[in-house]
Amino acid sequence: KDLKKYNSFAISAQAKLFTVFKSEKELLSILEELEELNEPMLLLGGGSNMLFTKDFEGIVLKNEIKGIQILSENADTVLIKCGAGEVWHEFVLYCVGKGWAGLENLSLIPGTVGASPIQNIGAYGVEVKDTIESVECIDIETKTKKRFSNSECIFGYRESIFKKIYKGKYVITQVAFRLKKQPKVNTSYGAIQQVLDEKGITSPTIRDVSNAVIEIRKSKLPNPAQLGNAGSFFKNPEIPSKDFDALKTKFPDIVFFPGTKPDTIKVPAGWLIEKAGWKGKSIGNVGVHRLQALVLVNYGGASGQEIVDLSLEVRKSVKELFGIELEPEVNMI
Ligand code: EPU
Repeated sequence: KDLKKYNSFAISAQAKLFTVFKSEKELLSILEELEELNEPMLLLGGGSNMLFTKDFEGIVLKNEIKGIQILSENADTVLIKCGAGEVWHEFVLYCVGKGWAGLENLSLIPGTVGASPIQNIGAYGVEVKDTIESVECIDIETKTKKRFSNSECIFGYRESIFKKIYKGKYVITQVAFRLKKQPKVNTSYGAIQQVLDEKGITSPTIRDVSNAVIEIRKSKLPNPAQLGNAGSFFKNPEIPSKDFDALKTKFPDIVFFPGTKPDTIKVPAGWLIEKAGWKGKSIGNVGVHRLQALVLVNYGGASGQEIVDLSLEVRKSVKELFGIELEPEVNMI
C-alpha cells in the first residue's frame, strides 16, 4: 500500500500491510492477530508530523476512532472526551461552536486528536497540555487499558512521555479535555492582537480568536493539501542565557523569547534558518518555504531522503553560523 495519501509531506513509501481500526474492539482484535504475525507496527493518525525515509516493512495501523462525549459539566467547565481518530481542526471548531474555550488558539493545526498529546501541539501562546485532563490508551503488549493523568504525561515543549520512554508502547484511543464555559481569551501572541486590531475587534470572542489564528496560519504556513509539508520541521532551540548573550553581540537583531527552563533563551529556528540564507531556497524537488523558513516542503515527487538531505544542509549552516544544533520536530520513519 502506498502511504502517499496518508502523510502530509506526500512522500511515496510502501507499507507491507495497512489496516484501519474504528473502535477499541477492532484495535484489540488486530493486536491479537499481530502477535502471531510478529511484524513491526506503526501507528498513524493524520500523518502530519511524519517523514517516511524508506518503505515500511511492517503493518501500518490507522486510528479512526471517532466520537465526542460530554463526561461532566458544571457552571464553569465542561469535561469532554474525544476519539483519537477525530480530525483536530474539526474538533476545535466543534468546541468553538459550543462556546467551550481553551483550544481556539490551536485552530487549523493539521493532524488528529490522538496525536495532539504525543508532541504536545502548541501555537500562538497555548499548548494542548493546558486543557488535557487525561489520555486513554491501550497497552500494545498486555492489551489492557491505561489512563494517564495530565501530570503522568510529563508534557514539555513539543514533548511528552509518549515520545520518550513510552514510545511505541501504547495506542492512544481517547483524549479528555477540560474546557471553560466562561471564556477567557488568550491574545498574548502579538500576531493575534494585530489581526484583531486591524478588524477593530476590542472584546474578542473565542470565535474571533480562532478566525484570527486561521488567518495568520493561512498567511504563512503552506496548506499540506496543496504543498507537501509537516509544519515546523525543527524545534525552536533553547540555549543557555550566556551563549545567547554572546550571540546577541554578534547578531544584534536576533529574535528571542524566554526559555522554558531556567537560564535559557528560546530562539526561533525560522530566524536562524532565514539568516543563514535558506528561506525560499530549493534543491531539486524540495525546499525551504518562502514565507516561513521553519517549514520544509515537497514541491512534488520528492523522496523522504531528499527532505532529510536538505534538513542536514540546513542544520550544518545553522551550526556553522551560530553554533546551534537544530533538533528535528518531525518523526522520521
Ligand atoms: N522568523 C523569521 N523568519 C522566518 C520565520 C520566523 O525571522 O522565516 C522569526 C520572526 O521573527 C518571528 C519569529 O521567528 O517573529 C516566530 O515566528 P512564528 O510566529 O512564525 O513562529 P515559530 O516560532 O516559527 C512556532 C511553532 C509553530 C507555531 C508558531 C506560532 C515550533 C517549532 N513551531 O513557530 O508550530 O504555529 O510558533 O505559535 O515551536 C509546528 O509545530 O508545526 C508549528 C507550525
